[in-house]
Amino acid sequence: MLQAKEITKKFRQQVVLQQACLEVNSEIKALIGINGSGKSTFLKIVAGIVSADHGKVFLNNCDVTSLPPEQRNVGYVPQHPALFQHLTVKENILYGMRNGKGSIDTYERIVDLLDLQAVLDKHPRELSGGYRTRTSLARALVPQPQILLMDEPLTGIDVVLKERILPDFRKVLKELQVPVLYVTHDPKEAELLADNYALMDNGQVRQVDTSAEAFELIRTSILQEYA
Ligand SMILES: Nc1ncnc2c1ncn2[C@@H]1O[C@H](COP(=O)(O)OP(=O)(O)OP(=O)(O)O)[C@@H](O)[C@H]1O
Ligand SMILES: [Mg+2]
Repeated sequence: MLQAKEITKKFRQQVVLQQACLEVNSEIKALIGINGSGKSTFLKIVAGIVSADHGKVFLNNCDVTSLPPEQRNVGYVPQHPALFQHLTVKENILYGMRNGKGSIDTYERIVDLLDLQAVLDKHPRELSGGYRTRTSLARALVPQPQILLMDEPLTGIDVVLKERILPDFRKVLKELQVPVLYVTHDPKEAELLADNYALMDNGQVRQVDTSAEAFELIRTSILQEYA
């Protein structure tokens, strides 16, 4: 379970997050917001890659605010996931298990669930975009993280392929019972994957009931800005 409390972050004079609060329990939550609204910054603060100016991050009721990323047990798939080009798919996934994290049983289960068996000996350049994304997801999942953070991992992937991949991902994530915070711009993506939705708006996170409501709020704020 993740609780982010009153997270504030400034870059020079620009206030990006202002007392943003968000909770993820056992669900898959989509975090929606316009470009530059602070979604990636928020994820990086939860992962421990960027430090907040103010506020606290709790994971399973432990205060991890001052812990480095490797001690947080958080899975993170960045906005532009980079696989190691000189390593095979199998070696890329096993990299997630360095420092004794995870187990070979979990590795085999995840490879099976994500249908990666046939490509394990290939190199990333030989894979389609969809399989590269599956590989980065597997690498983030094998250490059995307490929560998985995904930052628009399907950018640049065709809508048709998204429609095939996302229900698969949802099944895998539900089967592994891992809570997820998933950043996206795409209402369809949010609906295919998430149980509920939150909106990054003016430095704060707002809970919304449907992805349609989130996108309506975004539309209104963009139109106001350009009116
Ligand atoms: N390291 C940094 N130094 C200075 N400014 C930064 C830094 N990282 C982010 N910013 C600024 O903070 C704001 C929020 O950036 P962030 O990447 O979190 O937004 P985002 O919601 O993820 O956007 P996008 O949808 O384009 O990915 C932007 O104005 C960005 O330029
Ligand atoms: Mg971003």
